Amino acid sequence: MTTGKIRTSILISGRGSNMMALVEAARAPLYPAEIAAVISNRPEAEGLKWAADQGIPTIALDHKQFATRTAFEAKLHATLMEYRTELICCAGFMRMLTGGFIERWRDRQLNVHPSLLPAFPGLDTHARAVDAGVRIAGCTVHFMRLEMDSGPIVAQAAVPVHSGDTADELAARVLAAEHRIYPMALALVASGRARVVNEK
Ligand code: GAR
Repeated sequence: MTTGKIRTSILISGRGSNMMALVEAARAPLYPAEIAAVISNRPEAEGLKWAADQGIPTIALDHKQFATRTAFEAKLHATLMEYRTELICCAGFMRMLTGGFIERWRDRQLNVHPSLLPAFPGLDTHARAVDAGVRIAGCTVHFMRLEMDSGPIVAQAAVPVHSGDTADELAARVLAAEHRIYPMALALVASGRARVVNEK
């Protein structure tokens, strides 16, 4: 049966709270995307069990079981095709992807990053933001490109950094904003209201 909804698979590596936000949003009858599968490169990822409990197909693809990145990505691609994936959402997926995979899914792969890109790409975002003394932090949903944490931006949200904030306190405030904008950004892309023009 075709529902007209864009079949979206979510890639995770751990807790999966952004994945949960996407799954919850996709329950709405008029939401333009449906969740086809949740795939983790870490079999022990907490989010996998939650997704399975919701009745969503879950797949663990342990990257350590593959001799090369390319072999892992070939299996990942085959799995995505098996579930007739049209769009990928990376949600705390902490495995670098090679250019071959990224190009194959060009303009069909989103990521959420816990900073206002292009500020603070990479890891330890919140500690670096606190150390830098910025007054405003936030998060970004973007189409993926070869360079890590880069690509056309779909949505951003800003949150204040309070005096004396720890990295964990800031992370919690940013995460709540991620849960708001990722479902919104997926809806914009899945419905065709957001698309890439001149790499923006
Ligand atoms: C989120 O804060 C996400 O933005 C970040 O990992 C966390 C995953 O949490 N991703 C990155 O840093 C990618 N560069 P979650 O598993 O609860 O969604």
